Amino acid sequence: MHHDDWDELGSRQKKKRRSKRPSHRNKEAELDDEFQRDEETKFLKGLTDKNRQFDWMKEDRYNRMFRDIESNLQGALGTGSYDWVDRRVFDQVFDRLTLMALYKLMKSGIIDTLDFPVARGKEAHVFHGTSLDGQTVAVKIFHTSNAVFKNLIQYIEGDPRFTGLRRKHRDLVEVWVRKEFRNLNRLSRWGLNVPKALGVHKNVLVMEYIGTPEAPSPKLREVSVDDANFVVEDLLKFLAVSWQRARLVHGDFSPYNILWHEGRACVIDVGQGVVDSHPKAQEFLVRDVTRLVEWANKNGVELTLAEAMFDVLNMDVSELEQMPLEED
Ligand SMILES: Nc1ncnc2c1ncn2[C@@H]1O[C@H](COP(=O)(O)OP(=O)(O)OP(=O)(O)O)[C@@H](O)[C@H]1O
Ligand SMILES: [Mg+2]
Repeated sequence: MHHDDWDELGSRQKKKRRSKRPSHRNKEAELDDEFQRDEETKFLKGLTDKNRQFDWMKEDRYNRMFRDIESNLQGALGTGSYDWVDRRVFDQVFDRLTLMALYKLMKSGIIDTLDFPVARGKEAHVFHGTSLDGQTVAVKIFHTSNAVFKNLIQYIEGDPRFTGLRRKHRDLVEVWVRKEFRNLNRLSRWGLNVPKALGVHKNVLVMEYIGTPEAPSPKLREVSVDDANFVVEDLLKFLAVSWQRARLVHGDFSPYNILWHEGRACVIDVGQGVVDSHPKAQEFLVRDVTRLVEWANKNGVELTLAEAMFDVLNMDVSELEQMPLEED
């Protein structure tokens, strides 16, 4: 086939498409575009608006902050401890909507400064920061368009059968972040040792920072503890209270998602946690308990899955009372 033929085919198709009235399925794509345009217009308008709601970006403090973040992320390329970060990552993490979410959290004082990245995952980056009242905070920023998604979407977007996916993906991320926030609150209420949830907006979750000014606390996987028995008892109780009282299953209860902080286990990464009525809740619970048993055995504590399951299901935790959270 000649080039000309292609061109002709292309233009003929274009003409045909243009003359057709937008069908129902294109409507969703249009709405999607419209939503994107709307957001963009609002953003740009805000930059010049009388009420100057986006003047913050020019404010010295924020300006400096974003410069600092940026230099932290890309300046260290190949030299500092964050050499995994490059320009692509900066763009990936700090897209416009994320900057706006950070702004929102800064306006409310939940975040004051964002200092340096402490970890990167497939779904999120975690940063060390401070809040306006001087607390150190962990800021978990979920990617709204991760590499995997970007790779997949190119085969899907443009296929009229699957419109609006970009927006759906973003919505899904937001639901996920709020789920992690709510799960943290739910576990905290029962006095369980998890980072205190401090705030959430869009794809950004702010929680208590577990670590030193230099680095986050090590994962349980990376430390050797003096008294493994104590840790096992503590974590069995965690699972018992979480199942019997908070009625939540962590779902990824591995020594990678438990930090060793000030002589105690602190459980993190609760986004995938499900309520006990979830059809897979029991399956997940058994898996979580299995992970604990494996850790126990590896660390010289004799414990069978049956014993551990019995403890988790039958341990008497009836005396516990739910604590109110500050924002209640
Ligand atoms: N509250 C916190 N305080 C200090 N460090 C934290 C906190 N939350 C997370 N981190 C650090 O960030 C890392 C990743 O956090 P988390 O496990 O919640 O994210 P993730 O996206 O599920 O990552 P992964 O896919 O690697 O499990 C943790 O291993 C820990 O080093
Ligand atoms: Mg994790």
